[in-house]
Amino acid sequence: TGHVALDIGFVNTASCTSAITYIDGDAGVLRYRGYPIDQLAGRASFIEVSYLLIYGELPTAAQLADFDSRIRRHTLLHEDLKQFFKGFPRDAHPMPVLSSAVSALSTFYQDSLDPFDPEQVEISTLRLLAKLPTIAAYAYKKSVGQPFLYPDNSLGLVENFLRMTFGFPAEPYEVDPELAAALDMLLVLHADHEQNCSTSTVRLVGSSHANLFASVSAGINALFGPLHGGANQSVLEMLESIQREGGDIDRFVERVKKKEPGVKLMGFGHRVYKNYDPRAAIVKQTADRVLDKLGGNNELLDLARQLEEVALSDDYFVERKLYPNVDFYTGLIYRAMGFPTRMFTVLFALGRLPGWIAQWREMIADPATKIGRPRQVYTGKTERPYIDIADR
Ligand code: CMC
Repeated sequence: TGHVALDIGFVNTASCTSAITYIDGDAGVLRYRGYPIDQLAGRASFIEVSYLLIYGELPTAAQLADFDSRIRRHTLLHEDLKQFFKGFPRDAHPMPVLSSAVSALSTFYQDSLDPFDPEQVEISTLRLLAKLPTIAAYAYKKSVGQPFLYPDNSLGLVENFLRMTFGFPAEPYEVDPELAAALDMLLVLHADHEQNCSTSTVRLVGSSHANLFASVSAGINALFGPLHGGANQSVLEMLESIQREGGDIDRFVERVKKKEPGVKLMGFGHRVYKNYDPRAAIVKQTADRVLDKLGGNNELLDLARQLEEVALSDDYFVERKLYPNVDFYTGLIYRAMGFPTRMFTVLFALGRLPGWIAQWREMIADPATKIGRPRQVYTGKTERPYIDIADR
């Protein structure tokens, strides 16, 4: 079968070419379509960044208004799809609820599943961008036993999501503009990150010519894992458990360094960033501001800061080039905004959606794309004869 190179975890194998996102892990650089993340964060809206990632250029004001209004037309969920939420157990984690609902979109929109029909791809793109916030809000409402709210299309994507999440039917909901702006910026920070685990999953599934909904649903499941998007939930659980056990940071760090099974410093380390994660730097600045304003849990923030300080001056972490990643401080902000811990990874999914869509579309449009089909190095038995069951 010829020579096969072994690269467990794709540490240095590129699976595609891409013109969307650039990362320089040594320099701590992240750019979407050439624009540095620190110039986009706080200036470009999430919708604007979604347009940039998907279509390749920043929109003009007219293009942005048109894109926004086309998305707003698709925010409703089919009434039959709403029944799905009722069927899940009340304590269901919202991530599998999210991936199930996205997977189910393939059954509701059978007219737009052809990956090679640009019009169908376009409408699926709009439907996904518009409906994921509604799905996410309903997953939350289901978990707290509250009634669903219909989207209000006079509101923008983030405001609408906040209202559907925290509002009540027939009661006015005032969206706090600072909260909305902070969430919008966090979504921008998560919007794409080249060939990470979930995006590679979206591409791999899509490489078989599976439709956009099926591919993104698979990506959501990949994101759920605690080493990937699930880390934002794990960080908060880790901080709470350190606090519960008396706040002894040094003892926790010792356990991490001894590599006790299942004990890692969550929110630290990254496959590509070996200097710092530029997203984490922006999040950390935001955490101070948002927590002051919203009155978040300052004890946990202090604990996180101390933990970071201890880790950054410890040889174990220094030698391995382990720095805080994007997930280290985001959970504290989400908590201050009022989201329960289990919603944190859902917020990551909302942010990453335009990246998944952009990468799937780039792959489908690229004539060089082939079905993803890694090879293996076989380590099992060599040939041996079958033995009849009576003789074993
Ligand atoms: N705590 C303790 N040790 C760690 C950690 C950590 N968070 N991360 C890596 N190490 C150690 C690891 O044990 C290994 O040590 P040794 O060389 O002695 O075997 C060394 O550092 C290299 O790590 P690796 O596991 O080979 O690195 P990787 O590129 O395969 O893994 C990672 C990257 C992000 C999965 C890993 O750093 C990790 O598990 N971090 C904690 C989970 C986390 O925060 N994930 C979020 C990632 S960023 C956003 C996202 O994708 O969601």
